[in-house]
Amino acid sequence: MKIIMLGAPGAGKGTQADMICAKYNIPHISTGDIFRANIKNNTELGQKAKSYMDQGLLVPDELVVDLVVDRVKTDDCKNGYVLDGFPRTIPQAEALENALKASGENVDYAIDVEVPDENIIKRMSGRRACVTCGATYHVEFAPTKVEGVCDKCGAELIIRDDDKPETVKNRLAVYHEQTQPLIDFYADRNVLKEVDGTKKLEEVFDAIVAILGA
Ligand code: AP5
Ligand code: MG
Ligand code: ZN
Repeated sequence: MKIIMLGAPGAGKGTQADMICAKYNIPHISTGDIFRANIKNNTELGQKAKSYMDQGLLVPDELVVDLVVDRVKTDDCKNGYVLDGFPRTIPQAEALENALKASGENVDYAIDVEVPDENIIKRMSGRRACVTCGATYHVEFAPTKVEGVCDKCGAELIIRDDDKPETVKNRLAVYHEQTQPLIDFYADRNVLKEVDGTKKLEEVFDAIVAILGA
């Protein structure tokens, strides 16, 4: 089962991807998490990505395409995976399609989690993230047992540098311009599924499970 999560920043892609991966036992591949881990470890890739991310801009395609194409070829991806935050541009989607085509594969589902821009800023201001294991929380909508500490791995949670309201506005503008066209791209390939992301976490997940099958 090869799944792509589509949706605006803060729509809940990462939250739902985590739940899908736990249920179907497939890896969660988040390009944002990969970049944040590289920034934390101060790698060359992290240094390159950081300046773009801090401004709410996309990292250039050439820094992300090979990374994902190589990742989906690894052994743990043979039963499928959830791509979260990739592709984000038409060239990225085409590169993925070509890489999969070479081995006779294609994407099975592109799930668009729909949330209007007005709801997004509120969600972002309460988000807390674990850079160690990738888990996502919200102070109000998905709180941890102990404040500031990851339920899954015990690491200290962070507020993402790009969750400031000004940066969130930039990210939304970039989303509408560069990423939203992917909705038509995957509709044309008959794999697009839309879910209402304004509902509660569990309800959104139920809608996704109804699409993927139990
Ligand atoms: P990335 O990390 O992918 O960020 P994003 O797409 O902006 O999305 P978010 O992670 O902010 O939101 P989400 O949809 O995962 O929502 P979440 O589940 O956390 O990318 C960051 C940056 O990296 C980009 O700006 C770019 O610079 C770069 N980058 C990454 N991939 C790239 C690529 N392919 N090409 C180029 N550049 C790339 O939920 C948000 C909050 O809401 C959480 O607090 C959560 O608990 C809460 N929440 C979730 N669902 C609900 C609900 N139903 N009800 C109430 N609260 C909810
Ligand atoms: Mg995310
Ligand atoms: Zn954690």
